[in-house]
Amino acid sequence: MERVEGRTMAIHEFLLKVLVLGIIISGPYHSHAAETDYSITKPGCQSSCGNLLIPYPFGLSDSTSDCHFNLPSFIVDCDYSTDPPTPYMENKGSNLQISGISVEDHEMRISHWVGQDCFNSSGYDESSSFYPWLTLAKFPISSTKNKFTVVGCDTLAYFQDGGEKFTFGCVSLCSNITNVSNGSCSGIGCCETSIPTDSLNYQISFQSFYNHTYVLDFNPCSYAFVAEIGSYNFSVGDLKQIKSDRSTLLLEWAIGDQTCEDARKNPASYMCTDNTKCTDAKDGSGYKCTCLEGYQGNPYLANGCHDIDECADPEKYPCEGECNNIEGNYTCLCPKGYHGYGKKGGEDGQGCVANPSYLMKISVGVAVGIIVLLLSIGLLYFGYKKRELIRLKEQYFKQNGGLLLQQRLHEHDRTTKDAKIFGAEELEKATDNYDESKIVGQGGYGTVYKGLLPNNMVVAIKKSKVVDQGQIEQFINEVIVLSQINHRNVVKLLGCCLETEVPLLVYEFINNGTLFDHIHNPNKSSKLSWEIRLRIASETAGVLSYLHSAASTPIIHRDVKLANILLDAGYTAKVSDFGASRLVPLDQTQLSTMVQGTLGYLDPEYFHTSQLTEKSDVYSFGVVLAELLTGKKALSFDRPEEERSLATYFLSSLKNDKLLQIVEEVIAYEGNNEQVREVANLAKRCLEIKGEGRPTMKEVAMELEGLRAMANHPWVNGIDVNPEETIHLLREKTNVYMDSVASTSTGCTDSMKNHVMPLVSSGR
Ligand SMILES: *[C@@H]1O[C@H](CO)[C@@H](O)[C@H](O)[C@H]1NC(C)=O
Ligand SMILES: *[C@@H]1O[C@H](CO)[C@@H](O)[C@H](O)[C@H]1NC(C)=O
Ligand SMILES: *[C@@H]1O[C@H](CO)[C@@H](O)[C@H](O)[C@H]1NC(C)=O
Ligand SMILES: *[C@@H]1O[C@H](CO)[C@@H](O)[C@H](O)[C@H]1NC(C)=O
Ligand SMILES: *[C@@H]1O[C@H](CO)[C@@H](O)[C@H](O)[C@H]1NC(C)=O
Ligand SMILES: *[C@@H]1O[C@H](CO)[C@@H](O)[C@H](O)[C@H]1NC(C)=O
Ligand SMILES: *[C@@H]1O[C@H](CO)[C@@H](O)[C@H](O)[C@H]1NC(C)=O
Repeated sequence: MERVEGRTMAIHEFLLKVLVLGIIISGPYHSHAAETDYSITKPGCQSSCGNLLIPYPFGLSDSTSDCHFNLPSFIVDCDYSTDPPTPYMENKGSNLQISGISVEDHEMRISHWVGQDCFNSSGYDESSSFYPWLTLAKFPISSTKNKFTVVGCDTLAYFQDGGEKFTFGCVSLCSNITNVSNGSCSGIGCCETSIPTDSLNYQISFQSFYNHTYVLDFNPCSYAFVAEIGSYNFSVGDLKQIKSDRSTLLLEWAIGDQTCEDARKNPASYMCTDNTKCTDAKDGSGYKCTCLEGYQGNPYLANGCHDIDECADPEKYPCEGECNNIEGNYTCLCPKGYHGYGKKGGEDGQGCVANPSYLMKISVGVAVGIIVLLLSIGLLYFGYKKRELIRLKEQYFKQNGGLLLQQRLHEHDRTTKDAKIFGAEELEKATDNYDESKIVGQGGYGTVYKGLLPNNMVVAIKKSKVVDQGQIEQFINEVIVLSQINHRNVVKLLGCCLETEVPLLVYEFINNGTLFDHIHNPNKSSKLSWEIRLRIASETAGVLSYLHSAASTPIIHRDVKLANILLDAGYTAKVSDFGASRLVPLDQTQLSTMVQGTLGYLDPEYFHTSQLTEKSDVYSFGVVLAELLTGKKALSFDRPEEERSLATYFLSSLKNDKLLQIVEEVIAYEGNNEQVREVANLAKRCLEIKGEGRPTMKEVAMELEGLRAMANHPWVNGIDVNPEETIHLLREKTNVYMDSVASTSTGCTDSMKNHVMPLVSSGR
């Protein structure tokens, strides 16, 4: 009956085993989660008694002899009469309760009585005193893991070996409990000492100095016991009454009494199975089997040592790389570029370490590669850019007639002041790379920059927008011709730059702005007296006349207008922009964009012939004269339709004898009415629709010279008479002069061939 009950319970325990095994068997030892999967006993053997798990080679006394090693010490006697059942070593009579068995560490925990030596007020208290002794058959008390501990304040306790070959102990005396502290067994109220090796039995005995007379109130008994280190904590209360009457001892067990070497000689009885190693017991005799590194389980069972899946337990077997479990070991391959064991905390204590040579190689290689690449790209790029720039410059230079210009310049007498061919960089520098702040004029034609040449010469640099490739040769010719003109009333062309997409023209810089500005700015126009106006007209006419006749092929200005007549500080006229506009094709879009700037001056014949001639300049000059007289713009959409074009308006006013009404106030007040009338008549002739009807520029210049000469004559200026009379006189005089001129004139001829790009080279 008892047996059946035991079986039932054993089965129940067996079922629970899987859950509790790891926790209980390994309790204070290392915990191996995977161990729960494997049996700890031979098949069919009971594996526990109460809370105790019983691994092979230990076995229950009531099981078959197969279930345990063939020695009494390996037999566990299970007392089912208690609840839970109590396991005893060998048999219940030994009174050695087993509290734990570890196969891995070859340890066994048993509990044994605490010895005590007590007194009461009458003296020695025999009934409370107890002097335990222990005799072990096979497994010695671990000398390293146990201590002989004594508690008391008037105490001398001895550990005597069973053979009475040696005795040792320790003394504890303390007169006052206040000096005793909890926690450690430090010598006051408690002392401890080591156990010798190979101790299989002992007896505990006591002595007291004063029969506890002086400490009776807080320490009536002396206590002494052998206990596993760490299993007992001293506390002050233990002096009065110790908490437990049992202590836990740790025994070291081993198989048989042979060394490994001897045991292996008899394979039939040799207990170590596969994947195990054998070591000789240090305390006592016999040998111990343990699983090889990389394995775990019960080394005494067949196939008891199982490979550890290290990869499943990264906390215990860290792997920084790729973990791969192999039989008895695991590999941890470091990622590429790293070296090392990969198993952190392994032999070298290091995990995967970045491979310095590899890293170096890669980084140095990459760095060098990048640098070389960048350098070569940079070099190629700059080389390419430079070549491209040079090629482009050359292309532009050719395209803009540079070769032609060079050739022409070569043909010329180098002693004359020729046009200079500027480099693109020179002009870039002069204008701060065409900075906006350097712009002095802007319009549909392009932009004019003020520049400073390295020789501190201030220049105006005109940058056109578009180029008519068909006109290149003529442009070059004119550049040469114009650069050779050294007339005080011409804005000198210093040279050009052909290395840019559009040719740049470099002129002398005139600092007082355009006549347009002076006439049409009310603040400035009042300062332009009739005398100055007449002089400007005369100077302009002189220049145009000179250019029409000077060279073998007449130079036609093509864009005579106020905006192209610049003034210096002394109001000297400086005509700019001769013919250089050839490069700008005159197409419809441009006409429309330039309506306000130039259309008012345009020879009406141009619309029929599409040709600009010297007479076109004459017509335009006529408009300039009309503007000088009236102060009105050549074309203004602010005026009523019939007055929109100044030429038409001016002519109709003359016809209706309303000249004096349209003449600017400043002039009218000056009382030069007769001169005004003469100039008006001259303008009228210049504005003839038919070019043939217009005078030549030479005639115009002469007439204006004549008028100026007369104006300076004291006969006219000096007499302060009735203005009506003066006008009358003047008319008589000039009419004669004019008539003679008119008879020689062939009239104004045709008009501008090409439209002109205005150069607004005004100083600001
Ligand atoms: C002291 O102990 C003895 C023996 O155990 C006992 O007979 C006696 O009564 C005790 N005396 C006192 C005062 O408890
Ligand atoms: C312990 O010491 C304190 C003060 O040092 C004293 O008051 C007390 O009486 C002493 N106790 C004993 C039992 O000697
Ligand atoms: C013992 O206790 C007393 C009173 O608390 C103190 O004066 C004395 O220093 C202590 N002695 C030791 C060794 O701790
Ligand atoms: C020592 O510990 C016990 C409980 O274990 C406590 O009652 C006592 O007050 C402690 N004594 C000292 C001095 O800490
Ligand atoms: C202690 O008690 C024993 C007998 O119990 C006695 O023989 C001995 O003299 C006592 N010692 C002292 C110091 O009181
Ligand atoms: C002894 O004390 C330590 C900490 O003070 C504690 O961790 C340990 O569990 C105690 N041991 C026992 C057997 O009470
Ligand atoms: C596992 O492998 C490593 C390296 O391959 C080796 O150093 C180590 O000794 C091996 N461990 C076992 C138990 O074989």
